[in-house]
Amino acid sequence: MQKNIENLGSRKNFRNTVHEVLGDENESGEIFYKYAMVWMSRKCNSRCKYCYQDGDPEANNASWSYEKADKVTSLLLDDGYHVQPLINEWLPEFWNFLELMKKCQWNEITTNGLILLSRHQEFFPLLREYEISDIRHTLFPKGIHEEMTGRDREKSLRAIQLSKEHGFRTIVNYVVTTETLPHIVEVCDELADMEVDEIQFMNLIYLGRSKSKKNELLDMQYINKFWDTWKLLSENPKYERIEFDFQANFGPNPHGDNVSKRAAKQSRFCLAGKNERGHFIYITPEDDIYPCFLLSDPKFKIGKIIENGNNYSLEYNDADWIKHIPSFNRSHCAGTQYITRAILS
Ligand SMILES: C[S@@+](CC[C@H](N)C(=O)[O-])C[C@H]1O[C@@H](n2cnc3c(N)ncnc32)[C@H](O)[C@@H]1O
Ligand code: SF4
Repeated sequence: MQKNIENLGSRKNFRNTVHEVLGDENESGEIFYKYAMVWMSRKCNSRCKYCYQDGDPEANNASWSYEKADKVTSLLLDDGYHVQPLINEWLPEFWNFLELMKKCQWNEITTNGLILLSRHQEFFPLLREYEISDIRHTLFPKGIHEEMTGRDREKSLRAIQLSKEHGFRTIVNYVVTTETLPHIVEVCDELADMEVDEIQFMNLIYLGRSKSKKNELLDMQYINKFWDTWKLLSENPKYERIEFDFQANFGPNPHGDNVSKRAAKQSRFCLAGKNERGHFIYITPEDDIYPCFLLSDPKFKIGKIIENGNNYSLEYNDADWIKHIPSFNRSHCAGTQYITRAILS
């Protein structure tokens, strides 16, 4: 009898709980999870250099209508999935999609901050109405922020401050590249002074389409340096009020005993695709289904969203996507393993 993982609330709880289960040597194999990241719109008011859409031949303005997004969300929820609805930017035309966030019990939004600077008086009350408690931003170090985002760093700091002032739990994404890694501590100091609630480290996502970011990807040596910095931060009382988090594609944390290290030991770390432990799928605004956000090259496609009149269904093909990955070690996240190897080979 399979038991479902239920009521995890947020992406972080989902990942940690699943990895905890996958790392449990006594786990009987009965646990089953279903998770769908659903990217509903690519529209944005910026063109950041670092954005994973850069160089993407599909970088367009593809967006689902609200009706379609609602129907696909319901279809997945009824099928037992935890659904993460994704919008590139909270332009006013998407404010009604907040209804879907509530339906999926999703309590945070991510923004580049421009909308907060220009429209927070209308937007914040809406966020409250739809039970959004957390706002996620991105900040690069001084001298790098403008180049990476095309936006003024002071304005991004102001947007972070606005979320704090209005009582939202404020999270800052720190994108780790060879260039930003040495500046982690100085930016954490700055964010600690602003009393941000959480800093999440994002390992640079590179979908292999734009050549410009290759040199900024972390190899194993840099990843180890990242984990050393992580250890310093987590042990420093100066940051005790900040929660630190990281993406799975940094691989297992080598320091101490931790969920990701245990999961890696059991060689069951990666969640991608439909496997005996669960279904982890990623859906694009072009209606394609992939095993993971990081495995969204056409050769990994595992299905399509099909429209039948006014209804939608998910249609899977039998693609053996794993055979397209040069070397697949489930003890690391599929994305890192694939991306690093594809670049080094
Ligand atoms: C695609 S953006 C959408 C939300 C919003 N437009 C923004 O910029 O925050 C979601 C988050 O992904 C992260 N991100 C974007 N491109 C990335 C990349 N190449 N590697 C790692 N993280 C990235 C940023 O931290 C960003 O906050
Ligand atoms: S603002 Fe966000 S979605 Fe838009 S280009 Fe920048 S990182 Fe990408």
